Amino acid sequence: MKQPLLDMRGIVKSFSGVRALNGVSIQLEKGEVLSVCGENGSGKSTLMKVLSGVWPFASYEGEIFFEGSQVKASSIRDTEVLGIVIIHQELALVKELSVLENIFLGNELGSFARLDDEAMYRRTSELLARVKLDVLPDTLVRDLGVGQQQLVEIAKALNKNVKLLILDEPTSSLTSTEIEILLNIVSELKAQGIACIYISHKLDEVLSLSDWVAVIRDGEHIATKAAADLTQNDIIGMMVGRQLDELFPREVHDIGEVILRVSHATAMQAGASRPQVDDVSFKLHQGEILGIAGLIGSGRTELMQCLYGCYDGQYSVNIELEGKEKAIRSQRTALQAGIAMVPEDRKRHGIVPIMSVGRNITLSVLDNYKALFGAIDEDKESQDIDDYIARLKVKTASADLAIKNLSGGNQQKAIIAKCLLTHPKILILDEPTRGIDVGAKYEIYKLMFALVKEGVSIIMVSSELPEVIGISDRVLVMHEGKLKGDFGYRGLTQEIIMNCAIKEGA
Ligand SMILES: Nc1ncnc2c1ncn2[C@@H]1O[C@H](COP(=O)(O)OP(=O)(O)OP(=O)(O)O)[C@@H](O)[C@H]1O
Ligand SMILES: [Mg+2]
Repeated sequence: MKQPLLDMRGIVKSFSGVRALNGVSIQLEKGEVLSVCGENGSGKSTLMKVLSGVWPFASYEGEIFFEGSQVKASSIRDTEVLGIVIIHQELALVKELSVLENIFLGNELGSFARLDDEAMYRRTSELLARVKLDVLPDTLVRDLGVGQQQLVEIAKALNKNVKLLILDEPTSSLTSTEIEILLNIVSELKAQGIACIYISHKLDEVLSLSDWVAVIRDGEHIATKAAADLTQNDIIGMMVGRQLDELFPREVHDIGEVILRVSHATAMQAGASRPQVDDVSFKLHQGEILGIAGLIGSGRTELMQCLYGCYDGQYSVNIELEGKEKAIRSQRTALQAGIAMVPEDRKRHGIVPIMSVGRNITLSVLDNYKALFGAIDEDKESQDIDDYIARLKVKTASADLAIKNLSGGNQQKAIIAKCLLTHPKILILDEPTRGIDVGAKYEIYKLMFALVKEGVSIIMVSSELPEVIGISDRVLVMHEGKLKGDFGYRGLTQEIIMNCAIKEGA
């Protein structure tokens, strides 16, 4: 029998007695691409952490064979030597170092006494060309966008002797051009005989890229099938155990008077050549879902930061809420005024990683539970926590678990819960479904409709055009900091939005 490149057999992994993986087996040949699909918290990242040695041998049950030999890794270093390289869901570059330094970190060319700078510079330039990233090797990583950082991670992987590349949700924050570059790189690697395991909630990418699709649900391996024999709906069916006949559960709801009037929002970074937000004015009605579309860098997030009082630079804006002018200069004043926001970058603004899931959810409203002598009424607090964990279907072994232990998508759901608990009049959602599985997306949309029916008004920034069109009542389109379009959802198409999002001039 032909020997597979990778053979993972019966992997079982538990966290404090809770099984995250329950006997998962996957195989892969040289030069093949396998996608692993499954709902948030189904165990995809955990399986990859077992494979790459993040979880060392003997911390799980089951066996891993690579090129015919059993792998007993005690760290990620051990698997890298074998040619298994993982790029994690959360990027791990050192921001204060240059691209070159990151690529060679712990992997320097030359003797320890005298590193061969010239060779490293040349090698970095070659690698950057291979991933089509047009920056100099000495550029600092913190000056790069998320997508560019992702490409540096890949360049770094290529610098090692990679035989199996693992990409855990690599495209969730990339622009469409960057996604194309990335998918092309995977195809090129495949042609060179390098295998790849690909994890993504974007099922169109999964189908266009993979030879095989493995589906896991609640830690169980459901099936591995040839991608050519599958449709997106087949994958969804296996992932959630039922068919989803509609992706966007639009519900009829009343839209009231203007609740928020934003005038002349302008925001600029020190030393920048043009403002990130350039004199933007718009209105939001009560009970309305207002979508904000635009390319990455068009100023959508920055506009939201102006409304929420957290823009990191010079800005000015006039905000009128329910007919009264409001000065919002901090998250605190925003919350007091009834505006809550789920931020785009959850790692930086959303959560306190080592704090419990429950406390992360109640953090903004702790005052509500103040009992005598400043103590906290924990019963009341846990009632709310349980309530919102159930409402958003946050998958966690317990509310007391540190939130950093939750899967990526479930952390995102907890942040949404945190915002809802402030009972805002206006809810700002910046890329709310990034990294969220199709079933959970559906639940979040249902929740948004339930909220607007209660009279909450929602602003949703999203890069996923089907979502913007499928959920919003009205869509604003931004381009280079300016507002370029204002459309009702009826008759709105992706083409109309794209044309508006890339148009030049006034
Ligand atoms: N270090 C940990 N401690 C405790 N539980 C953990 C830990 N890491 C993962 N888990 C749990 O294991 C389960 C699987 O998580 P995992 O991160 O593998 O999901 P995932 O399929 O990658 O989801 P997502 O699509 O949201 O990224 C989840 O219930 C998660 O809370
Ligand atoms: Mg994951």
